[in-house]
Amino acid sequence: MARTGKVTVVGAGFYGSTTAQRLAEYDIFDEVVLTDIVEGKPEGLALDMNQSRPVEGFETKLTGQTTGPSGEGYEAIAGSSIVVITAGLPRKPGMSRMDLIGVNAKIVRSVTEQVVKHAPDAVLVVVSNPLDEMTALAAKVSGFPSHRVMGQAGMLDTARFSYFVAERLGVPVGSVRTLTLGSHGDTMVPVPSACSVNGEPLADLLPAADIDQLVDRTRNGGAEIVGLLKTGSAYYAPSAAAARMARAVADDSGAIMPVCAWVDGEYDIEGVYLGVEAEIGAVGVRRVVERDLTEDELAGLRAAAEAVRAKQADVASL
Ligand code: NAI
Ligand code: 2OP
Repeated sequence: MARTGKVTVVGAGFYGSTTAQRLAEYDIFDEVVLTDIVEGKPEGLALDMNQSRPVEGFETKLTGQTTGPSGEGYEAIAGSSIVVITAGLPRKPGMSRMDLIGVNAKIVRSVTEQVVKHAPDAVLVVVSNPLDEMTALAAKVSGFPSHRVMGQAGMLDTARFSYFVAERLGVPVGSVRTLTLGSHGDTMVPVPSACSVNGEPLADLLPAADIDQLVDRTRNGGAEIVGLLKTGSAYYAPSAAAARMARAVADDSGAIMPVCAWVDGEYDIEGVYLGVEAEIGAVGVRRVVERDLTEDELAGLRAAAEAVRAKQADVASL
């Protein structure tokens, strides 16, 4: 099997380490680099993951690298075609994603500056929260063309919605199609008109009140897990989502995925990073894919755009 290229995951916490492991287990890359500022943590995790290779049978090599406050160690990411940014604090119970904005903006800014220096041709996949704002910040700080910067949220929110529908109806998750657009937060826009089970509209299978309940649970999907874990936030489903996005870039697959992408004109929304469907390839976002939405869904998407626009403008100065 031909393996090629190098992908970096910045931040070796729960999200970053599980993402690195998933990327390595795809067995399509030459190398997966995992970095963190905690001395020895990425090296230790990479060593552990490398020792899983004989068991799981993959050859992709993992490299762990501690980085310093002035960018020491960042040489390890040179030549990466994709960089996934997971560095940043997760929520604690009772916190909103927005409560993380000040501290995570500083982290994402400093990480992005180093990525620009050492992997100037990379596609960035941002996951640090608050997601829509951190994606906009990484785009601004990097100066990369907007198609090379995207955020992960819609894949996760959509997966949560699909799981809840499958569980409610007692059907395989693979038979369910759902969609969420908008922000990774209070203005998330679940799109019932795009939801189906084995091709049958969800609205024909469940009463509207039941669908609303699943939509609410999806909107609060991250907080539900934070509340149960008490410390830290979700990472298995989130890392699956980010890894699939990175893989779509690596494979130049043209897969259409819900991601946080630069929207400028689509749905008559101007100039904002927002959760929409997009075709993903080696360049990052090939194009934003517009679909027919109901009036309510479109209004929700436009409201989400306005809600994140103001915050994205503020974050540029953090
Ligand atoms: P974690 O606390 O387990 O790991 C964060 C890691 O970032 C730590 O190891 C820390 O040392 C590292 N870090 C901090 N500053 C750094 C820097 N300047 N350079 C490199 N590494 C640095 O948190 P977890 O669970 O991994 O979450 C990471 C982020 O992802 C959080 O902001 C969380 O809210 C977000 N998240 C986003 C989701 C999404 O759907 N977009 C879903 C789940 C989490
Ligand atoms: C999640 O949705 C906290 O954003 C994180 O799980």
